[in-house]
Amino acid sequence: MIVKVCENYAEMSRMAAEAIAVEMEKKKNFVLGLATGSTPVGTYGNLIEMNKQGRLDFSEVKTFNLDEYCGLYPSHDQSFNYFMYIKLFNYINIKNENVHVPFGMAADYDSWCKGYEDAIAKAGGLDLQLLGMGSNGHIGFNEPSDEFSDITHTVQLTESTIKDNSRFFECADDVPKSAVTMGIGTIMRARKIVMGENGANKAKGVKAMLEGPVTPRMPASYLQNHADVSVFLDKDAASLL
Ligand code: GLP
Repeated sequence: MIVKVCENYAEMSRMAAEAIAVEMEKKKNFVLGLATGSTPVGTYGNLIEMNKQGRLDFSEVKTFNLDEYCGLYPSHDQSFNYFMYIKLFNYINIKNENVHVPFGMAADYDSWCKGYEDAIAKAGGLDLQLLGMGSNGHIGFNEPSDEFSDITHTVQLTESTIKDNSRFFECADDVPKSAVTMGIGTIMRARKIVMGENGANKAKGVKAMLEGPVTPRMPASYLQNHADVSVFLDKDAASLL
């Protein structure tokens, strides 16, 4: 695992984008796993810039997002699907049919989740997964739990995640209580993982992820078992290491 402490959020975002770009330049039909949350917004800004400047071409790239709230249509302004369009997809030359975001309104989630796993496999597997981490250590929406979750599945969100994410909604009651997420196994099968973390509220989680035991109670700790992970931290997120 490579851990790089950056001067600030801007440098963290630049370095995460650079790590992604270097991989994307090796392969035209790259399969890119994407994340939501406030952390990757700066990384997306850098990728948009690289696309504009002609360095990165998304025309043959396929993307798969980590997760989505259950109960929100893709057009809902708090859905992760909507987020991805306003933060990235609207500004790059990606084909709409190559974009995959979990569907939060499935009639049968079990078969929908299986189909998502099949689509990732059919695309050749994830070349790279971009990750953030919830303040409780979740990756995607894999909440701290007693069991390792392998494939894409639905999950009940914890009170702490609902509270964290209520900043994007009018009130905590409006935050969906469940979500569909890639499993820890789906994430771990990505050939490369890039993670960015910033802010003092992530410091405890970052320490547990990098220095604590590998346990489903701290989902991000599984990254210690992955062969190719690059973690970019700002000084605040790295302050307890
Ligand atoms: C959500 C997403 C996670 C993301 C997390 C952190 O809960 N499901 O994938 O990592 O938010 O968000 P932020 O980057 O805003 O701290």
